[in-house]
Amino acid sequence: MKLDEHLAECDSDLRRLIIAIGNTCKTIKKGFASRQSCSDTENVYGEKQMALDKWADEVLIADLKASGLVKYLASEEQPEILEFDSAGNFGVTMDPLDGSSLIGVNLAVGTIIGIYRGNVLAPGNTMVGAMYVLYGPLTTLTYTVKKGVHEFVLDTSGNFILQEENIRIPDGKIFAPGALRKEYLPGHLKWIEALESEGYKIRFSGSFVADVHQILHKGGVFTYPGYRGKEKGKLRLLFEANPMGFVVAQAGGATSHGTGDILTVMPESVNQRIPIYIGGKREIQLIEKINKEA
Ligand code: F6P
Ligand code: MN
Repeated sequence: MKLDEHLAECDSDLRRLIIAIGNTCKTIKKGFASRQSCSDTENVYGEKQMALDKWADEVLIADLKASGLVKYLASEEQPEILEFDSAGNFGVTMDPLDGSSLIGVNLAVGTIIGIYRGNVLAPGNTMVGAMYVLYGPLTTLTYTVKKGVHEFVLDTSGNFILQEENIRIPDGKIFAPGALRKEYLPGHLKWIEALESEGYKIRFSGSFVADVHQILHKGGVFTYPGYRGKEKGKLRLLFEANPMGFVVAQAGGATSHGTGDILTVMPESVNQRIPIYIGGKREIQLIEKINKEA
């Protein structure tokens, strides 16, 4: 079944939006071979922008603007929320190319999207949908509109074909722990040690979208915690935590910032960072229990 057929029951504007984003991601995938060089600019977080980061951002902005469906667009590569004079009223958040430091070594990277009705400065649990496209050996598109989590593979004719419907996160013993161990906060260290003592194995590629995708399919937990000197962590609430957390929560998992659900957090600013725990309910409950006891 093709993506557009799978979305047949969906609200027609939301369907058009998801299909439009999927189409733009096909363009991004095609750009990988020819646009690999480093640019000389930094984004608002002081990270070096790859030429591909900037280009993917431009292509998504242009296509979403042209769709007429989007009023507010927040991009990880832009300092401010963009506002379009549009008939549609969707708010979209995007990390155009997550994990882009891995492009040079040919590991999987992806595009992460959150979809709201109206402004995007709202808690993640008000999203009407979220999706990501993972550019690995295969290009896959995973989406939810709060009716299950579904995954599609881009075939050689350029169609996204259903690969797995109603994905549920299984129990699993892998963990993807970001940050430096010597800078862990006490509760986090205790939790990591608990997982290690249970035999959890590390699987951390450096591409958030790919690492969470693996957790979605194999179980376990991804974390980029707050740490000494950077208590809010590294990753971003609007562009990374919320959309990927929303997908995993819709698949039966959960999210936390250490003491509560990420998806209930009211953002204070567009580029806010947040400690991230995304994965199975058991692992998420354990970090919150440890932190509350401390
Ligand atoms: O977008 C930021 C990011 O590249 C994520 O994809 C990834 O999880 C993280 O940073 C890796 O950070 P570090 O280089 O500190 O391990
Ligand atoms: Mn990112």
